[in-house]
Amino acid sequence: MQIRTFDQYQAAYQHSIEDPEGFWAEIAQEFVWRKPWKKTLQWNFDEPSVQWFIGGKLNITENCLDRHLAERGDQPAIIWEPNDPHEAGVTLTYRMLHDQVCRMANVLKRNGVTKGDRVCIYMPMVPELAIAVLACARIGAVHSVVFGGFSAQSIADRINDAQCKVVVTADGAYRGNKEIALKETVDDALIACPSVQKVIVLTRTRTPVSMIKGRDVWMEQELKLVTADCPAEEMDAEDMLFILYTSGSTGKPKGVVHTCGGYMVYTAYTFQNVFQYEPGQIHFCTADIGWITGHSYIVYGPLACGATTLLFEGVPTWPDCGRFWDIVDKYKIDILYTAPTAIRSLMGFGLEKVENHDLSSLKVLGSVGEPINEEAWHWYDDHIGKNRCPIVDTWWQTETGGIMISPIAGVTKTKPTYATLPLPGVQPVLVDENGKEIAGNGVSGNLCIKFPWPSIIRTTYGDHERCRQTYFSTYKGLYFTGDGCLRDEDGYYRITGRVDDVLNVSGHRIGTAEVENAINMHTGVVESAVVGYPHDIKGQGIYAYVIAEQMPEDHDAELTKRDILATVSRVIGPIAKPDKIQFVSGLPKTRSGKIMRRILRKIAEGDTANLGDTTTLLDPGVVDEIKAGALVEAKA
Ligand code: WTA
Repeated sequence: MQIRTFDQYQAAYQHSIEDPEGFWAEIAQEFVWRKPWKKTLQWNFDEPSVQWFIGGKLNITENCLDRHLAERGDQPAIIWEPNDPHEAGVTLTYRMLHDQVCRMANVLKRNGVTKGDRVCIYMPMVPELAIAVLACARIGAVHSVVFGGFSAQSIADRINDAQCKVVVTADGAYRGNKEIALKETVDDALIACPSVQKVIVLTRTRTPVSMIKGRDVWMEQELKLVTADCPAEEMDAEDMLFILYTSGSTGKPKGVVHTCGGYMVYTAYTFQNVFQYEPGQIHFCTADIGWITGHSYIVYGPLACGATTLLFEGVPTWPDCGRFWDIVDKYKIDILYTAPTAIRSLMGFGLEKVENHDLSSLKVLGSVGEPINEEAWHWYDDHIGKNRCPIVDTWWQTETGGIMISPIAGVTKTKPTYATLPLPGVQPVLVDENGKEIAGNGVSGNLCIKFPWPSIIRTTYGDHERCRQTYFSTYKGLYFTGDGCLRDEDGYYRITGRVDDVLNVSGHRIGTAEVENAINMHTGVVESAVVGYPHDIKGQGIYAYVIAEQMPEDHDAELTKRDILATVSRVIGPIAKPDKIQFVSGLPKTRSGKIMRRILRKIAEGDTANLGDTTTLLDPGVVDEIKAGALVEAKA
């Protein structure tokens, strides 16, 4: 399944288009199946209904763990680097990881978890997080990992949506010089979560925590009560593997569902090829397992390929801005996979902390999560890769499960800011507003995919209609990504950013509607409108226009802003806090009451000269007031 040359890429691509089923069946055969599948693919994008490897039986952990034991049982599977560089790290060989996953799986069983039950995981970036994820998969429970930065309210929403039976968490988390009380946040969440019967708590920070009798148990004590014998549950290829919540343009985050067979095949195939992983190499993906990048390229993809994956608990800037380079040097990392926002923030610190580390072990650099700007691309190439490591700018989404458009390291000729070419099996099309395909090169449009790949989203948990509406109804017969894209003269793809009301802040997806709802929870707020604006480090910043019951002034305005930020933190989490808040007396609305975000976006960008047509507005005067206010804001 390994592509080594551009000719091989082209041949594989051709094969994948002409005979998708044959192409993927050949790749899938390299894995361990309890029972072979009867039919490779059945699909329609109208319902939508997509099934891969129909009738096939497997357990993904047998592929990620058991099958490696004979050949590489003593090879490191997970290397863990703690937040504090002075604390000892942990290396788990495949044998040790297998043992620990089985034990944890038995702990879940002891606490009532059976096949099909949902388990919420809210943990720091410690080995036990990866172990808990795999333990769920071992027994056929569905994990729903919630990023450790989300609020109690967000956890509760996710737990209730999925009706989770058990929560796995820790007393607290270390992030840089901060200590975060995870269990306390879970306790707050659980006040409103009747489905939860047990909470399994790992000791990490020794922060004092409440332990409720009958509900809360210590992971360490539970582990003493089980053996390491836990046969893997036999799963259907299309059984649910996990739910991961992600933001969209409307309302509450939705639970993206991935299934066992297709997700395994696709993440392994893309990991192996995009990064050109060689046995013995160490892969360092800096994402958090709370996001899809961590699921696919810290846990499942690398382990399915028998790779060594590094898990880092901390942040890039603590104890200083050389932390990534320190880790690369210390472990002799081969592949580094990070986000443009991290690169841009580290660029700002200069080269001193880069140059005093040996980065010569690096072979491939990856970028993910947001468009990478030219300056960051070159800095990454020059100073980290020393112009000898290919950069793979990987475009994909929570819904796609794995990388879709990306160079293959050392195989595809790269071009700064371009995700370049679709991987085998991926059939992108650009369409105009009416869904008409835009053919040829040197064009741009809305990015859609016209044929299923093995790890395509299957449904949104508990609400299939929402899945259909969001992804398959905008353009008939196509999966719509929500991204704008151009295809240049060479047929290379460049993702230009979201075309819907989803923001990408530091690589995190946040819906404008979600932030507005949170702001509107503040007692003094009547209405709000949130847009993104270009931000040097975060990629996009959050700009909120707020109508308050009484227009606050001076000191009062500052206090109200502070409270609005606290409200958003409480409702969603600190990542969704607006960077700028401007109080306004009205919002630019059409006669039918729709907020004209285009105008608000322009003003937030500081581009007030070309607001376009404002004559259809109910009250055009409000625009001048907002413009004037924005100038004051910009100077502040
Ligand atoms: C954006 C993250 C440009 C895009 C894996 C997409 C990118 C959203 C890139 C998905 C890239 C991701 N270049 N934009 N290489 N990768 N995006 O679900 O807007 O957190 O729709 O998945 O991030 O974000 P998500």
